[in-house]
Amino acid sequence: MHDFRYVGNKLCCEKVTVEALAKRFGTPLYLYSQHTLTARFQELDQALAGVEHLVCFAVKSNSNQSVLRLLAGLGSGFDIVSGGELQRVIAAGGDPRRCAFAGVGKSESEIEFALRQGVHTFNAESEPELERINRVAARLKKIAPVAVRVNPDVEAHTHKKITTGTYENKFGIAFEQIEGVYARASKLKHLRLRGLQMHIGSQITEASPFEQAVRKVLPLVTRLKEKHGLEFISLGGGLGIVYEPALASGSAAWWKSAQGKRMLTPQKYAARLLPLLKPLGLRILIEPGRFISGSAGILVTRVEYVKRTGRKNFLIVDAAMNDLIRPAFYEAYHEILPVTRKSGALVRSDVVGPICESGDFFCQDRPLPKAGQGDYLALMSAGAYGFVMASNYNTRALAAEVMVNGNQAALVRERQPIQDIWRGEKAAPWLR
Ligand code: LLP
Repeated sequence: MHDFRYVGNKLCCEKVTVEALAKRFGTPLYLYSQHTLTARFQELDQALAGVEHLVCFAVKSNSNQSVLRLLAGLGSGFDIVSGGELQRVIAAGGDPRRCAFAGVGKSESEIEFALRQGVHTFNAESEPELERINRVAARLKKIAPVAVRVNPDVEAHTHKKITTGTYENKFGIAFEQIEGVYARASKLKHLRLRGLQMHIGSQITEASPFEQAVRKVLPLVTRLKEKHGLEFISLGGGLGIVYEPALASGSAAWWKSAQGKRMLTPQKYAARLLPLLKPLGLRILIEPGRFISGSAGILVTRVEYVKRTGRKNFLIVDAAMNDLIRPAFYEAYHEILPVTRKSGALVRSDVVGPICESGDFFCQDRPLPKAGQGDYLALMSAGAYGFVMASNYNTRALAAEVMVNGNQAALVRERQPIQDIWRGEKAAPWLR
């Protein structure tokens, strides 16, 4: 469920028309619904109510200060993957003690910063990393809380670029090696082995890969708990959302439809996993990103030109792959809706950006309502891995971001001034 729907012919975010916001703040524009973010967080949190747990929002999916501040206020913890993300969380009023620090390449300075801030855990991904954390902790005279990430070698049935839990991936430590790693790590005096972590991939839309992974690690985690006194198991993130058709999926009727009934919900996720996990008596951590932020955001863009050439109808819009890279990078589908609905036949169209690359498209040959110059279009389900993956390619400014709450709207990131893009660049002295 989400809070983007048509009222009459106007697409609304909560109680505000998207058109009014596009006119007020300009395009390309990311729009977030506070109500959707809140509802999604609470849905997950409540699904796990039967066990001691912590939901750690994956900051990488959407790191806007207002998004983080909202979630911190709801009691969320955070899954972070860099010192920068930890600084963001702290700036947004989040509690470092509720932060799990993941990632395969933590630097000495990042480890030191996180230790000084008192993070909940380091999710370690290799033995050299455990040794480095131990060394830094010894220097600071601290004990570092760690969990080791196990790679359970299960197939998550998702896009190859977002599968992480098989032996083809750089993530985690192979299942068979884990006990040896814990045995050696237990001898490192400045580490406290607090948990076991895993994450098998992203945009997973069925419960079975999660269940398979949990069943596989259960005996292991039981033994590790006995030997090393683990306190928690982290299941990672990965709960998928509906991209197609995103608008329909916002309605209660859609969730009752055949497609809706098949969709993985937090309730189904919890119903499949909690009975397996409860007997462990461990605290459960999860690290959802997309599930919370994905459906809560859209990217609004304006048609600059309509161009018919060869056999194609191109809608050239003012957003591009630098604003939302998912279609180019993962062949991802984002539903595209007119911000003002008109009647009439559908036209097969390619929605493309101004960037000089053939890969700069949002859809190809998709039947869409006829659109003309100046019309606004909405790219749905763009709240996760949207703005955060934006770049300045082609010296294009980062888009503005707006948060909506009921009938209020606030600019939560101003459009980047063009000159900021090359701030910090200098002419070499011999060129001056
Ligand atoms: N935990 C770990 C260790 C992760 O690597 C990730 C995502 C998450 C949690 C959060 O996963 P989520 O709940 O959002 O699925 N840019 C790609 C997705 C990359 C995911 C990276 N890791 C996309 O746009 O589809």
